Amino acid sequence: MEINLIAIGSDHAGYLLKADIIKFLEGKGLEVKDFGTNCPDSVDYPDYGQAVAEAVSKKECEKGIVICGTGIGISISCNKVPGIRAALCTDSYMAKMSRQHNNANILAIGERVVGPGVAFDIIETWLETEFLGGRHGCRVDKISDIEKKYLTK
Ligand code: RB5
Repeated sequence: MEINLIAIGSDHAGYLLKADIIKFLEGKGLEVKDFGTNCPDSVDYPDYGQAVAEAVSKKECEKGIVICGTGIGISISCNKVPGIRAALCTDSYMAKMSRQHNNANILAIGERVVGPGVAFDIIETWLETEFLGGRHGCRVDKISDIEKKYLTK
């Protein structure tokens, strides 16, 4: 599938890696929408996770990449937005599985966990791997069912 627009966001602990990732993606001819942050001043990762997740959920962007220190807080935040399946990946095997089995639509990375080289490897794999569907589709549908059960509006 052709990637149209990638949403990207980070907190202060991820903005340096985010800048490297933007250059990497643009170097591959991909279009990126940057939701910040873009300086070392301390900010709250849920704000940036929410912005990226809403852009993906509303289909303004096809996929998203989020970065914080560990990738944990921002991935948890993204996963509160209906329709989002954010996967925190520390290597390309996880990236591949998160697409093939989980149909992840947001990739989370920790700047304090992986360096740019590993991050680029993860991203390359994640972007080029397709969802397998089949039995994995039934399981992903069950994730949506859990979401629907707890949605109040
Ligand atoms: C910020 O210090 C740090 O807590 C944040 O980037 C992230 O790692 C949280 O999960």
